[in-house]
Amino acid sequence: MSFDLVFFGGTGDLTWRKLMPALFQAFRHGKLPAGGRILAVARDEMPDERYREWLKERFREVEGPKRPNDEEFEKFAALVHYRRMDLSQPEHYQRLKEWLGERQADTVVLYLATSPHLFTQICEQLGAAGLNEPRVRVVLEKPLGHDLASAQEINKVVRSVFAESQAFRIDHYLGKPSVQNLMALRFGNALFEPLWHRESIANIQITLAEGLGVGTRGPFYDGTGALRDMIQNHALQLLTMIAMEPPATNDADAIRDEKLKVLRSLKPFTAESVARDVVRGQYRAGNVDGKAVVGYLDEAKIPEDSPCETFVALRTEVQNWRWAGVPFYLRTGKRLAARDAQIVVNFRPVPHPIFPGTNQPNRLVIKLQPEDGLELQLLAAKGGAHGESLAPVSLDLDFDKAFGSARVGAYERLLLDAIAGRLNLFVRSDEQEQAWRWVEPILEAWKHDTNGPRTYNAGSWGPAAASALVARDGNSWAEES
Ligand code: BG6
Repeated sequence: MSFDLVFFGGTGDLTWRKLMPALFQAFRHGKLPAGGRILAVARDEMPDERYREWLKERFREVEGPKRPNDEEFEKFAALVHYRRMDLSQPEHYQRLKEWLGERQADTVVLYLATSPHLFTQICEQLGAAGLNEPRVRVVLEKPLGHDLASAQEINKVVRSVFAESQAFRIDHYLGKPSVQNLMALRFGNALFEPLWHRESIANIQITLAEGLGVGTRGPFYDGTGALRDMIQNHALQLLTMIAMEPPATNDADAIRDEKLKVLRSLKPFTAESVARDVVRGQYRAGNVDGKAVVGYLDEAKIPEDSPCETFVALRTEVQNWRWAGVPFYLRTGKRLAARDAQIVVNFRPVPHPIFPGTNQPNRLVIKLQPEDGLELQLLAAKGGAHGESLAPVSLDLDFDKAFGSARVGAYERLLLDAIAGRLNLFVRSDEQEQAWRWVEPILEAWKHDTNGPRTYNAGSWGPAAASALVARDGNSWAEES
């Protein structure tokens, strides 16, 4: 199957840090269909050769086994082309059309790795140039909009130009092998599903913690914040996969219909419940991994009085028969104690304990990163002199060890899926809009909250109020228990 893949924003951060390296890995693994061309388009004028050199320099910054050697790079670079494009100029889209028309590839993937405020303009121009024929797919990077109205506006334009089956909205968390394993765990095994409801599960915690700060993305991040950057998309997508009903098939729409139902069942926020159930924080100076780091307000290009949140913890519920009353705690933040993304499913305690000592309930930890695995915490008899007392033990599964190098990274997987036209791991417009609908009351309440975010030390697990939020229900975050 031949394909042409076009990156708008071809000299941008996302293209060289994530997309090109992912494509290179696909190429190296022999997974990129033969007969493909890759075209980067951006504002600057330069010949293909110069762009390839530029890319080679960027690739030198890649560390570890993912770094290409010169020979591999040259082979890959032969597929890569570059064209200057002013995104506001209709004739530049005509030139793109001519380039694509030089041969009729089976599939054309147009990847919008630009700032989202350009999405509507680009889509309108693509439509006007007739670059929306059925073989074309458009990939939209997150964030799609900054609130419900802007997301609806983008979706309206996308839908007026492309069929829904041509629109690939990326949430790169869905491409992570560990996240796909969530579906496998629930719907490929009969073991857990009978326990997967309010009778057996006490609470669920989703943590997406990062040790990194905002780095060079200050201006973007300051206009975005952790709620829009991580909760509205990544954390909610994980929640839907944990809470959804079994889909009838593995088809994209069967899955997305069930995820949408979960989003529609989330308890809506009000101004009062935001004050009670949502904690926002901002890091100040501290130590991460033994290194002193500055506070958010001292990061480059951040206004000195910025109210931007770098941490959010919240409590919600999925209001349906399966989950009524079960707290779902979501938490994300920059400059936290560790890079740690995981979902913790805390089961209920045994109804009638007969053993002395610990009666710690079972816990299933779905580890997304840095390791990719599953840990089931159980109680077992220690078998000592006082053999009747129980001790916690774990069944630990490391997917990297189990499957080794056969696994592909998130962007690699999603790019290959876009080329192949598989929509399962992409987000539908109604899911995205429903997620915005749910976070909007939080954004609205914060606008009127003059207290601003609570501070936390870099290298900690966030403001103390985040612990108090779960303690109110008699619970604690996994690292505290
Ligand atoms: C992105 C956010 O979507 O996800 C970043 O914009 C964040 O702020 C990143 O750092 C985290 O992704 P990962 O795969 O490193 O956990």
